[in-house]
Amino acid sequence: MCQDCKKKFYITTPIYYPSSKLHIGHTYCTVAADAMARYKRLQGYDVMFLTGTDEHGQKIEEKAKAAGVTPQEFVDNIVCGEKGVLDLWKLMNISNDRFIRTTDDYHVAAIQKIFKKMYENGDIYKGAYKGMYCTPCESFWTESQLVDGKCPDCGGEVHEAEEEAYFFRLSKYAPRVRELLTTTDFLEPKSRVNEMVNNFIDPGLEDLCVSRTSFTWGVPVDFDPGHVVYVWIDALFNYMTALGFENDRYNDLDKYWPCDVHFVGKEIVRFHSIIWPAMLMSLDLPLPKKVYGHGWLIMDGGKMSKSKGNVVDPYVLAEMFGVDALRFFLLRTFPFGSDGNFSNELLINTINIDLANDLGNLVSRTTAMVEKYFGGTLPAERQFADIDDELILMLTGLRDRYEAQMEKFQFQNALDEVFRCIQRSNKYIDENMPWALAKDEANRARLATVMYNLLESVRICATLLLPFMPDSCQKIFRQIGAAEEVTTWQAAKLWGKLPETVTVHKGEAIFPRVDTAKALAELEELHQQQLLAALPALETEPLSAETVEFDDFCKCDLRVVKVKDCKTVKKSDKLLCFTLDDGTGEDRQILSGVRQWYPEPEKLIGKTLVAIVNLPPRKIMWRDSNGMLLSAIHKEKGEEVLHLVMVDDAIPAGAKLE
Ligand code: MSP
Repeated sequence: MCQDCKKKFYITTPIYYPSSKLHIGHTYCTVAADAMARYKRLQGYDVMFLTGTDEHGQKIEEKAKAAGVTPQEFVDNIVCGEKGVLDLWKLMNISNDRFIRTTDDYHVAAIQKIFKKMYENGDIYKGAYKGMYCTPCESFWTESQLVDGKCPDCGGEVHEAEEEAYFFRLSKYAPRVRELLTTTDFLEPKSRVNEMVNNFIDPGLEDLCVSRTSFTWGVPVDFDPGHVVYVWIDALFNYMTALGFENDRYNDLDKYWPCDVHFVGKEIVRFHSIIWPAMLMSLDLPLPKKVYGHGWLIMDGGKMSKSKGNVVDPYVLAEMFGVDALRFFLLRTFPFGSDGNFSNELLINTINIDLANDLGNLVSRTTAMVEKYFGGTLPAERQFADIDDELILMLTGLRDRYEAQMEKFQFQNALDEVFRCIQRSNKYIDENMPWALAKDEANRARLATVMYNLLESVRICATLLLPFMPDSCQKIFRQIGAAEEVTTWQAAKLWGKLPETVTVHKGEAIFPRVDTAKALAELEELHQQQLLAALPALETEPLSAETVEFDDFCKCDLRVVKVKDCKTVKKSDKLLCFTLDDGTGEDRQILSGVRQWYPEPEKLIGKTLVAIVNLPPRKIMWRDSNGMLLSAIHKEKGEEVLHLVMVDDAIPAGAKLE
């Protein structure tokens, strides 16, 4: 079919804030959208799959400042730099057709035009933003955001203030948006509709402040310098500017708009289901057909970014378990509309049970038996039995059952359908006992039929798994000898598409079993390393809040001492034994637990140190210790680091410190 005659499907992910590196939670929605896009392409649609980055706003401006770079340099690094957003989508095999950055010139210019249009049609007006203002932070806060009446950021005083700002007449569109949400399938799952109506629309929608003057990293309002466009307006219109709305860079608006579905995380459903349609209504533009608010991957009941016990870096997980296993896990384990508790154990279990045991075994047992019993190529003889009918019926009906779930974005249920067939096929092996059939040449036709049926099951299941695990399914096709024309959407509903005398190529295990204990230990080790790496390089003890009386301090007799000798102490890996000249003419012995930082004690001989000499004598490891050497302690990457306090060698032994 020619490209123009194909049915169109336009799907988007949210555009990501490049304020820090993305974690596995961020990949969730993109992997889901990718599976959906691949599924629609498999069905024969002309798909436009858009993702991108949302690069403006105060947060980015502040982070860039802290990093000592320009905001553009900052976002360039996170988006295009090594292991940045673009690298991550490449790694995860994301098949987006387009990538938009809100700092792209064509988008910026389009946003300025859009803002002006809404200003000209009267839906954006100039007013005053009132709130509690914190001068040092240059931020407005609402009463409810304040903490004990103070600025939630710096804890400082706030005062009532007003600032000129533009507003969008969101209130005007409240009735139409309410109707859209309550009488159509615009927003799904349905539970999110109640949330929007009860929490936001019914309590009364206020007009939305859509410009800022307190920072500059945004799209400038071209007719009023000093104002930048509110980041959500800039961000939401990406879905249209990326197709060519109000710009010449692209020309795909007629082809793909209105969008078929926006996949968004639950916390940004409000922007997509209330503000976005209201703005489109203001411009008299067609509304997207659907917004789907998916759940979050959470960890130990909390936010992933604050995760403590699990590795959430998609690079690490993909390297350890494989990209396809990771993609599969995300969509197999959690219902898309609800939150899901992520853990490394769950990931490993899913890989071992579904991929290594069920699917992997089915493929490797089947190809191994075809090789063993027929030298790799099936003979043409067939002998069908009643027991085959159930399998064939189940497999030829799979595509419809799968489709019904995919159309509702129920990836978990769609995969459930496929895995039921995989499990059924494994059972079919046990029921038919090919190893027993192989014992008698008279069963040759029956054995060939059993093998053929199994290869057909694998073919259909792998075709429907293509959107989830594209590379692995191609490997499966090579192993079972399935050419491209029998791995199509149409062929997934039909039995008997593989050649009668198909040749298999048994290869390496596609989904090797994971050694759970070993993998968890490795992940734990990596996690500890990540925690250390995330610690500030240098840590010092907070200053003591307790005061000491001057007279008490003066009681400490601090003296300069010279190291005459320094040795390790038998049976102690901590202690060094110092022989010191303290100016009295008699040697002073001090034992000090510094060996770890001075592995070559003889190098300390001749150094000028400081000791407190009027501590009561102590016995340490059966030796006398008369006093204590002063040292400076701090932490580096979580490890304690100690330096003996050394003073100028010109100071004589016995000099008193005051
Ligand atoms: N920039 C906005 C979106 C603008 S769309 C016009 C934004 N960016 S974000 O980077 O903060 O989040 C992007 C998406 O990642 C959101 O849909 C959010 O829900 C999703 N997730 C962030 N953490 C997540 C999990 N732990 N689990 C699942 N999705 C998560 O919001």
